[in-house]
Amino acid sequence: MTEVFPHRLPGDPAPEQEIARMLRVDHAGEYGATRIYQGQLDVLGRSRSAAVIRRMAEAEHRHLTHFEALLRTRRVRPTLLQPLWSVAGYAVGAATALLGEGAAMACTVAVEEVIDEHYRSQAEQLANEDPALREAILSFRDDEIAHRELAIAHGAEEAPGYELITAAIKAGSRIAIWLSTRL
Ligand SMILES: [Fe+2]
Ligand SMILES: [Fe+2]
Repeated sequence: MTEVFPHRLPGDPAPEQEIARMLRVDHAGEYGATRIYQGQLDVLGRSRSAAVIRRMAEAEHRHLTHFEALLRTRRVRPTLLQPLWSVAGYAVGAATALLGEGAAMACTVAVEEVIDEHYRSQAEQLANEDPALREAILSFRDDEIAHRELAIAHGAEEAPGYELITAAIKAGSRIAIWLSTRL
């Protein structure tokens, strides 16, 4: 794991820059999640899976609203790549949905596994820093884990090409995180 607060000594000022980067990447991720589900719902809005996708989409909107408010109050700019995540997220959502309901669920499994790790590592890095943020991250992480379980319960692992789909989406999500932390 990368050390986020490498040169800090006890009593040093809060590492605002580092927390700003965390907020930026988390906002980007939740935004991307809403775009994925929008793409899935535009394809599968009338399918058996619609209700469960809608339920997950609502949670992502709640997460996104939280980070939007934090960016505003702390005067942190969003990632420059937001227009890209709009298109890429939607495309991944629509493409997996076109492959079928199982593939759409496999997409959720992949994304949530990466986000689970990502939020866990942020919570560790925050340690005693910014307890309110840490708590929000841990609570959102619980939601993401629940989404993953819901997606498995709705047939993710039975999707043809499950391994391939999840490997590709995990790789893409990690790249998106890396880029959104830096840009
Ligand atoms: Fe989320
Ligand atoms: Fe989620």
